[in-house]
Amino acid sequence: MASADNRGVVYRGAGTVAVEDIAFPELALGNRKCEHGVILKVLTTNICGSDQHMVRGRTTAPEGLVLGHEITGEVIECGRDVEFVKQGDIVSVPFNVACGRCRNCRRGDTHICLNVNPERPGGAYGYVDMGGWVGGQAEYVMVPYADFQLLVFPDNDQAMEKILDLTMLTDIFPTGFHGCVTAGVQPGSTVYIAGAGPVGLAAAASAQLLGAACVIVGDMKPPRLEQAQSFGCETIDLRQDASMPELIESVLGVPEVDAAVDAVGFEASCHGHNHSHEQPATVLNATMEITQAGGRVGIPGLYVTEDPGASSEDARHGNLSMKFGLGWAKAMSFHTGQTPAMRYQRQLMQAILHEKTHIGSAVNATPISLDEASRGYADFDSGVARKFVLDPHGVLNS
Ligand SMILES: NC(=O)c1ccc[n+]([C@@H]2O[C@H](COP(=O)([O-])OP(=O)(O)OC[C@H]3O[C@@H](n4cnc5c(N)ncnc54)[C@H](O)[C@@H]3O)[C@@H](O)[C@H]2O)c1
Ligand SMILES: [Zn+2]
Ligand SMILES: [Zn+2]
Repeated sequence: MASADNRGVVYRGAGTVAVEDIAFPELALGNRKCEHGVILKVLTTNICGSDQHMVRGRTTAPEGLVLGHEITGEVIECGRDVEFVKQGDIVSVPFNVACGRCRNCRRGDTHICLNVNPERPGGAYGYVDMGGWVGGQAEYVMVPYADFQLLVFPDNDQAMEKILDLTMLTDIFPTGFHGCVTAGVQPGSTVYIAGAGPVGLAAAASAQLLGAACVIVGDMKPPRLEQAQSFGCETIDLRQDASMPELIESVLGVPEVDAAVDAVGFEASCHGHNHSHEQPATVLNATMEITQAGGRVGIPGLYVTEDPGASSEDARHGNLSMKFGLGWAKAMSFHTGQTPAMRYQRQLMQAILHEKTHIGSAVNATPISLDEASRGYADFDSGVARKFVLDPHGVLNS
């Protein structure tokens, strides 16, 4: 097919994305043959807070990068070595690219696959430093290692009925869930979730699914806090000048929680009246302060090795003012890194299909057309309580 047979969302420098003609995908990445891959017609592909770090110019992402790592699609072509996935299947793509063959993949750590990124362990579609895999905010995309990676939905009609929930399986639902699992959330836990963006809301819904007694979500954006309240969370507005223990005590009657999740990352704002300023270690320090001694903090929020937009020289190279001594004194554990999305996809799919969770409405899934991507990025950046779902082929009538 000619190159104009595909269109995608392209990063064009800080603050700018554009929908452009891009090459139709091949079963290859440069010289690397991908006969184990498939071509997908993209049905839904979500905009993520992780994309925003790049679009805000806070990473070393090159101009011209085709964005998009949250991909759900229909298989239209299978490579020679694909045995089990079939043309016509509707599938969820875990956002990590993983070979299924290296030692890390073989023990389930698909977020640090050794064979998909020459620079470092771990790959992803459409992301800086993640191996050069072409992004899926596009009409068509290639997914390698299809038999290993893809989650095939059991029934296509049912999948389309629940697509606004199922589309969250590519990243944010597993990511929120992993944040809670690694924080040690159990039935009866009290939990603090920092951040009421889509990942924070997905973590809050996950904590409920895991049986938490009380889920408290903190943010500075009132519409996002209201969204958290809409499905039964307690909230704290961090624009107040109260201390974190005081804010937690105002909800629970005690100044600490059993478990905490950082769903913010390095672009964190200060608490209190200074909330328009950034302080990259705020959430790490706040969660250490309020989590029980011996407790765990799950950290899906993203931290970078290089931040060209940081306000201090240290932070430009990823060195943050973290109160690590406090964490040591309280014998705390921290769990960081990309989520191995595949690890949770099947069980979370079942929770959706059997209506044990309503993740699409928890994060306020909002379909828009591919042509509206630029507006979607801008609205998301302004802090609306929405998770934008691009619909490149108009299958959702958006
Ligand atoms: N680990 C992974 O695999 C993975 C996957 C997906 C996303 N992420 C990361 O998770 C983070 C959240 O993603 P998102 O899509 O929800 O992003 P988002 O930018 O929409 O949400 C972040 C929210 O944090 C709030 N916030 C800022 N400072 C805060 C503070 N001090 N305390 C509490 N809240 C504060 C912001 O107001 C915003 O609402 C991002 O860093 C993203 O890159 C990681
Ligand atoms: Zn994402
Ligand atoms: Zn691997």
